[in-house]
Amino acid sequence: MGHLMEFEMHRNPRDFLKPLALGAPEPLREIPVKPSRMIQFMPPQNERMRARVAETAAQVDVLLLNLEDAIPANEKLAAREGLIEVAKSGNAGDTPLWTRINSLDSPWFLDDITEIVAEAGNRIEVIMLPKVQGPWDITFVDQLLALLEAKHGLQRPIMLHAILETALGVSNVEEIAAASPRMQGISFGPADLAASRRMKTTRVGGGHPAYVVRGDPVADDPDAPRLTAQQDPWHYTIARMVDACTAVGILPYYGPFGDISDPVGCEDQFRAAFLLGCVGAWSLHPSQVPIAKKVFSPPPDEVAMARRIIEALGEGSGVVMLDGKMQDDATYKQAKVMVEVAQLIAARDPEMKAAYGF
Ligand code: GLV
Ligand code: MG
Repeated sequence: MGHLMEFEMHRNPRDFLKPLALGAPEPLREIPVKPSRMIQFMPPQNERMRARVAETAAQVDVLLLNLEDAIPANEKLAAREGLIEVAKSGNAGDTPLWTRINSLDSPWFLDDITEIVAEAGNRIEVIMLPKVQGPWDITFVDQLLALLEAKHGLQRPIMLHAILETALGVSNVEEIAAASPRMQGISFGPADLAASRRMKTTRVGGGHPAYVVRGDPVADDPDAPRLTAQQDPWHYTIARMVDACTAVGILPYYGPFGDISDPVGCEDQFRAAFLLGCVGAWSLHPSQVPIAKKVFSPPPDEVAMARRIIEALGEGSGVVMLDGKMQDDATYKQAKVMVEVAQLIAARDPEMKAAYGF
């Protein structure tokens, strides 16, 4: 903990909202909340996919141009060039463009960040940083971005999003979330996290048939079958990430679900994350877009109930009964969260707007 405490002592809270470089844009006081139910990953070196960007962008809340894992080493430069081409083309319309750059220790990081800010800094809203270990990683990129933003005359700061995918990163997740006003959110990265922890699984997210709780043996019948239920090996990490993010006003996301052939498993994993407080997930394949849309859009009947609670409680204090259920200041706040999210989604998604009746 020693190094962390020193780290915190060096930063005066008064300086937190001052630009880190002369001429850099003012840091954000609040992160702009936009729907981000699905972060669609796209390999930008793929010409065929670049040709379809307008179509893809129209289907999703966020289009992420991926430069890191899954992009072969000999295509890293083509991917970066493809990203710049997509950003400059304007083909993604008003869909937010994000990128995942290569990790801080890789041979590509320095040119990734330098060229992206220079060539696409006004269009890329969020840079996702993989394999973040602690707040020092965010501090480093925070300063570097401020210098690059100043150099290229950017008018608004680029936000940062950390992937939670190392054991050390999980140990430091609260400090990572609070490390900079640029922090927009954190995604859970089960594949690298499993490797970093030396977990014995080769899957990307989801449950595991061997991770179970077994019912007690039946008395007098030791051979009788015993019920088992798979548990969620990721529950602790996701719950901790949600607390770390929401405690400082940034957004938590479930990351990738790798088994494209299991839409039911994907939906369950996304929904568990949604119920714990995550606002979205990555989509690795077009088939996961409708799953994320279904899961991360609050259900219309719940939104209708939330509107009734808000109406019944007036200015938001006291207690009333609705259909036999107690409503008070706390359920009023829950209802406000739900209705605000639904309004943001309705503004982007005509189908959900109709379902919510806004
Ligand atoms: C995502 O990057 C993961 O490693 O799961
Ligand atoms: Mg990863």
